[in-house]
Amino acid sequence: MAFTDLWAQLEPIGRDAGTGGYRRYSWTAADLECREWFTATAADLGLQPECDRNGNLWAWWAPPGAAGPAVATGSHLDSVPDGGAFDGPLGIVSAFAAIDLLREQGFSPARPVVVAAFTEEEGARFGVACLGSRLAAGVITPAAARDLRDSGGVSLAGAMTAAGLDPAALGPDADRLAGLACYVELHIEQGSALDGLGAPVGVGESIWPHGRWRLELTGRADHAGTTQIADRRDPMLPYAAAVLAARRSAVARGALATFGKVVAEPGGTNAICSAVRAWLDARAPDEDTLAAVTGEVGAAAQAAADEQGVGCDLRRESFSPVVSFDAGLRDRLAATLDRAGAPVRGQAPVPVLPTGAGHDAGVLAARLPTAMLFVRNPTGVSHSPAEHAEPADCAAGVTGLAAVLRDLAGP
Ligand code: GLV
Ligand code: MN
Ligand code: MN
Repeated sequence: MAFTDLWAQLEPIGRDAGTGGYRRYSWTAADLECREWFTATAADLGLQPECDRNGNLWAWWAPPGAAGPAVATGSHLDSVPDGGAFDGPLGIVSAFAAIDLLREQGFSPARPVVVAAFTEEEGARFGVACLGSRLAAGVITPAAARDLRDSGGVSLAGAMTAAGLDPAALGPDADRLAGLACYVELHIEQGSALDGLGAPVGVGESIWPHGRWRLELTGRADHAGTTQIADRRDPMLPYAAAVLAARRSAVARGALATFGKVVAEPGGTNAICSAVRAWLDARAPDEDTLAAVTGEVGAAAQAAADEQGVGCDLRRESFSPVVSFDAGLRDRLAATLDRAGAPVRGQAPVPVLPTGAGHDAGVLAARLPTAMLFVRNPTGVSHSPAEHAEPADCAAGVTGLAAVLRDLAGP
């Protein structure tokens, strides 16, 4: 089935009519509908669908004669709040379309090819990014994962049980990962480097170390119209100090630091908050710089909290170390795309790019050779309804991925 047909099927699922953004949070109705689409599409294409112990989906292309470790490709179906259409789904739709194209070309793989859809890549519901691949790789314990809670207090275990899965089965999937020769994730570029270089497709080089920290500021609820300034214990002030420190420190150190989520409790306009809870996302070119940035944010929050008589706790919730993708695989992809010619790589050799964005390919890089293909994003905007890739560039991605799979899974 052509890319555009598959894309049109998936596109309406989980899109908010008001914002045009996607709300595909793991194990919600929208996510379950995406999963049904994945399974039905796999069946339509004659692939063997499977759901693993961690809720990750797989679709196997293993015709007679295909043997040995599999070549895996794919991405994720979940989204950030009001995310774009491409972050995640582009990799999965392109994988199905690439397999269809290879079949049309009469290619039969010498080793199995498998399309993967990893669960909760964005961490939008349960807070830990790349949760499905982290569980498979054994970098989060099943007990810790089961107990993660969404903003309504529902645990991952509860959400999976409600969806008909057994959370007791969660855990490392070493045999499955050992059965994979490599994982190649195609993804929309979350920046505009390819656009600047005039290239439809690029290859990933590395991922900055990054993580998420939870800032908990505990003050005292009181009346906004009667409580004198000197008598207040207002957690909003250390929160403001932390936001400003994050920007200052990131600029000074060539890093990125973002407070993108904040909850003020109880949240009355005419009341001083009893607590402010906020989440810091920080990324840097190296781990020492990252530690320095989060240290400075923590110190600024603590100093302001002390001044205001507010309790302050900054706690790391997840962390992804620096990733350098497998050099041999990266170079092999680049050479394949170069051979595929200008429609795939543009006029110059295929660009090889670092990224600040996290991916399941980054988590899995600790267990098997992984690589990434990026598809041009003309504005660079991502994690927003405005995220976009041109149809011609999506087609170049499919052609490029098909060439890569043909090379990796060929005789
Ligand atoms: C995932 O998109 C991330 O970089 O947080
Ligand atoms: Mn994302
Ligand atoms: Mn993504």
